[in-house]
Formats: sequence, C-alpha cells, structure tokens
Amino acid sequence: MKPVALITGASAGIGVELARVFAARGHELMLVARRQDRLTALADEIAASGRPRPTVLALDLERRDAVATLAPELSARGLEPAYVVNNAGFGLSGPAATLGRDEELAMIDLNVRALTELSLAFVDSLERHRGGILNVASVAAFLPGPGMAVYYASKAYVLSFSEALHRELAGCGVKVTALCPGPVQTEFQARSGMQLPSAAKLIELPASRVARIGYDGLMRGRRVVIAGVGNRIAVVLMRFVPHALLMAAVDRRMGSAGAQ
Ligand SMILES: NC(=O)c1ccc[n+]([C@@H]2O[C@H](COP(=O)([O-])OP(=O)(O)OC[C@H]3O[C@@H](n4cnc5c(N)ncnc54)[C@H](OP(=O)(O)O)[C@@H]3O)[C@@H](O)[C@H]2O)c1
Repeated sequence: MKPVALITGASAGIGVELARVFAARGHELMLVARRQDRLTALADEIAASGRPRPTVLALDLERRDAVATLAPELSARGLEPAYVVNNAGFGLSGPAATLGRDEELAMIDLNVRALTELSLAFVDSLERHRGGILNVASVAAFLPGPGMAVYYASKAYVLSFSEALHRELAGCGVKVTALCPGPVQTEFQARSGMQLPSAAKLIELPASRVARIGYDGLMRGRRVVIAGVGNRIAVVLMRFVPHALLMAAVDRRMGSAGAQ
C-alpha cells in the first residue's frame, strides 16, 4: 500500500495551504471535502508543479458513514494514510439557544465526531509509516466562547483529545499535534456569520503561514502548536485571567468576531 497524507477540508482556506505544504515536502495526498471541483482544481495545480497528482474524494464528513465510506476508497486505490490531517471544520455565530439546532449538531458531527473517528481509524497504518495526526483546533480551545459556545467547546474537545492521544500514541511512534490558529481570513468567517474586527488584524496570519507552522510542528513531534507570537502571548495571558472576565471580553466582541 502506498502511504498518503489524508487531508480533510482541502477545498478552501487553511486546508488548501496544508495540501500545498504537504505536497511541496514530498508527500502524496488524498484530499477530502464536499466540493469536488475545488479539490480537482487543487489536484491539477499540484500535478502541474511536477508533484504526484493527489487523489480527491468528494465526501460529506458530517455523515455518520463518512469514514466507513472513506476507508474502502483508500484501499481500492492501493493507498493507506501515513498522515491524517483533520482540518475540516466550521463555526456558527449567535446565542446557542437560538441557533438552528440541526446545524449546531452538524458542527459537532464534523468538528468532533468525524475528527475523532479519523484520528483513530488508521492508527495501524500511521504506526507502520511512523507518521502522525495533525488536528486543527483553535485559540478558541483555551476559553469558553459565549456567542459561539458550541464552536469553542468543540475546539476545546479537539485540543484535549489530541493532547491525550499525543501521549497514548507516543510509544508506537505516531506523532499527534493540535494546531491552534488565531484569526485567519478564509471562508470560515462567511460560513460562521462573523467578520474579523480590525483589532484582529494585529494577530491575523495568512493561511499559508499557519499551514507551514502546523506542518513543522507535526514533524517536530510537538503536542500543541499555537500559530504566531501574538496568539501565543494571548494564550499565556488567558491562563492568568479569570474565566468570568475572559467571557465578558469575548461576549463584547461577539457579533463582530471571537478568537475562532
Ligand atoms: N479561519 C480562522 O480564523 C480559523 C481560526 C482557528 C481555527 N480554524 C479552523 O481551521 C479549520 C479550517 O478552517 P478554514 O478557516 O480554512 O475554513 P474554510 O475556508 O471555511 O474551510 C473549511 C473547509 O472544511 C470543509 N468542510 C466543511 N464542512 C465539511 C463537511 N461537512 N464535510 C467535508 N468537508 C467539510 C470545507 O469544504 P467543503 O465546503 O467543500 O466541504 C473547506 O474545505 C477549521 O477546523 C477551523 O475551525 C480557523
């Protein structure tokens, strides 16, 4: 079986850049998202740069049978993951009690359930290739987020789960890294119904930079990577501020933006 880096959410934003970084560093790719045309265009671009053409699979990862669909698609092509990059995710902005319940639960299905299943489904092949898992969390993982409560909670799960898995899988040579970006201008803002406030520009990073930081952190075996100096300082400060004060600050910013 040929080893690949399986990257979810590779049709936009940070996922596109992660695919470019993994391809540039010599990995063969399997790209997953719902928009096939975007995945095909990215595969064309990577192939045109002289790298092996990525395999693409249009798949809705919110579906309960998504991973059961994905695994045979990989083996039918003679592929197995050496790396799994759980990047697909979305947020919703607004009070949790008034947002559409189905959409909120779909967010948990994607950000939490699919990420968990994909992290666990291929451990044997990750171990064979001494590869790893890169889970995209967020700076939002470090604090509760009134105005985006379910999203922040989903990212707290991603961080906690990934840190524990880092330790559990260390013995078998599988690296696990939680990547925590702060604000990044992508389709995320439109999907979640928010805009980046002007203050966020101070710590905003381009998706390409976040992807490189995540890749390097994974390859160095880092447990948690917070992208950018500004975000690292913010996370350190959060440890010393009571949650009540932090939440009041997040609450004031909501409607315009949160930590994401
Ligand atoms: N942007 C930020 O400020 C920021 C900050 C911190 C963390 N993050 C995290 O970074 C990750 C990537 O976000 P982004 O900013 O790059 O957002 P984005 O531009 O909206 O991209 C999201 C990706 O996820 C895919 N996706 C969404 N729903 C899916 C589903 N049901 N099944 C399969 N794929 C699905 C989308 O593809 P399709 O629509 O084609 O399916 C797209 O490729 C997310 O986990 C997000 O929470 C983002």
